[in-house]
Amino acid sequence: MTAPRPLKPMPPLEPFHFYIYTFGCQMNENDSEHMAGLLMAEGALPAAVPEDSDFLIINTCAVRAKSVDKVYSLLGRLKRVKLSRDAKIAVTGCVAQLFRRDIMRQFPYVDLIVGPDNYAALPALLKKSRERPQSATAWHSEWQELPTGFRAKGVSAYITIMEGCDNFCSYCVVPFTRGRVKFRPLEHILAEAEAALARGYNEIQLLGQNVNIYRDPEKGSDFPMLLRTLGRICEKNWIRFITSHPRDFSPELAETMADTPSICHQLHLPIQAGSDSVLREMNRGYTRAQYLDKIRLLRQLMPDIALSTDIIVGFPGENESDFQQTLDILESVRYTSIFSFRYSPRPQTAASRNLPDSVPLEVKRSRLIQVQSRQKKIQQDLHSNQVGRIMKVLCTGPGKKDGSAYTGRNAANQVVNFRAQTDQTGRFVEVEITSFGPYSLRGSTIPASPP
Ligand code: 5AD
Ligand code: SF4
Repeated sequence: MTAPRPLKPMPPLEPFHFYIYTFGCQMNENDSEHMAGLLMAEGALPAAVPEDSDFLIINTCAVRAKSVDKVYSLLGRLKRVKLSRDAKIAVTGCVAQLFRRDIMRQFPYVDLIVGPDNYAALPALLKKSRERPQSATAWHSEWQELPTGFRAKGVSAYITIMEGCDNFCSYCVVPFTRGRVKFRPLEHILAEAEAALARGYNEIQLLGQNVNIYRDPEKGSDFPMLLRTLGRICEKNWIRFITSHPRDFSPELAETMADTPSICHQLHLPIQAGSDSVLREMNRGYTRAQYLDKIRLLRQLMPDIALSTDIIVGFPGENESDFQQTLDILESVRYTSIFSFRYSPRPQTAASRNLPDSVPLEVKRSRLIQVQSRQKKIQQDLHSNQVGRIMKVLCTGPGKKDGSAYTGRNAANQVVNFRAQTDQTGRFVEVEITSFGPYSLRGSTIPASPP
């Protein structure tokens, strides 16, 4: 074995401005916060617009072909910026991990390619990229604790509790872009949550590809235990978590949600498809009946629970009767919201290697429209039942329309737009619902009752 070569000392980075484009999920948003923290620790400053920055980071998502196309088209547009100002360009995240060679070939002006397991090295790589382009896509077997991320003062703090995924759902690229499962030590999670609450955050959102299987790497504390401990330090605020895998969602976790007052009665539980044969081909590890049993238990323990899900239409071999079973699931569960997608074959996945993409594009399109219009009706109906109700809303900021309108989310994670006399950002307010659309509720604040 050769001894590692000592790193050549690099002069510190000059004061510079950076701008991060973030695509994809909340994990990516949280990763961008960490990258910003790492750069600011080196004296860098966030730029308000890309035109004012010396370092452009594109933090990418590879979950569907469309997400990758967006990144490539942005990279094409940035060539001009690169040539006119010699800004450094980095591609980070899942596209960086998966398509490193393609990026180098198609966009030779990219200076840095950094996969999700290598963000700790970002400042050092940036310094080295002054000499030649750099890339880092190796895997680490241990959890990589990053310094606290930089967050603009906000309302909801994302806290990552695990990385990677070992499930290998047959359509999904994530196990190839984020690697094997690694859990973050419990003490780091709690310390970050305490710091966020001390800074005035009102909500903690725990993040991971499959949070249900969390285990503290040292003491083995599981996810319900983490939630109970967090519930004690977060009594007056809200706790949410994503994503749960239906196979690993346990009765104990449902009981923990029901018994811990600060955990919102809201759960994202991706079903993906309603038919057992499609679920089997997807390698999801549960049947439709097992999924529905879990929903029944959740509703028994928390009659007010709001459920959301992810749906894929047009998975290889999905026939009309399979698809009808997906529509039927929407009617049985009546989700408060869904994310729905057309199946997109992804490199390296079992489905793309073994199953021909057999459902024609036109059929996929039509099924997606059917799913979305069925869900829209369900949401209209659920929303109409809320009119006249008074509910607690966490205000996230001013709404888009005018100065007296604000926006926020209720415990069910529904968007609530409301009128208020004064700025309510970062506060829990009581809102009376007066009207609704398919994707949001509308109302006004109830004046605080006199003491
Ligand atoms: N095609 C379409 N949708 C996909 N998703 C993941 N992989 C694919 C794919 N290959 C969806 C799943 C997942 C969500 C984050 O993205 O529904 O839950
Ligand atoms: Fe992808 Fe399945 Fe892992 Fe979710 S659980 S990240 S869908 S492989």
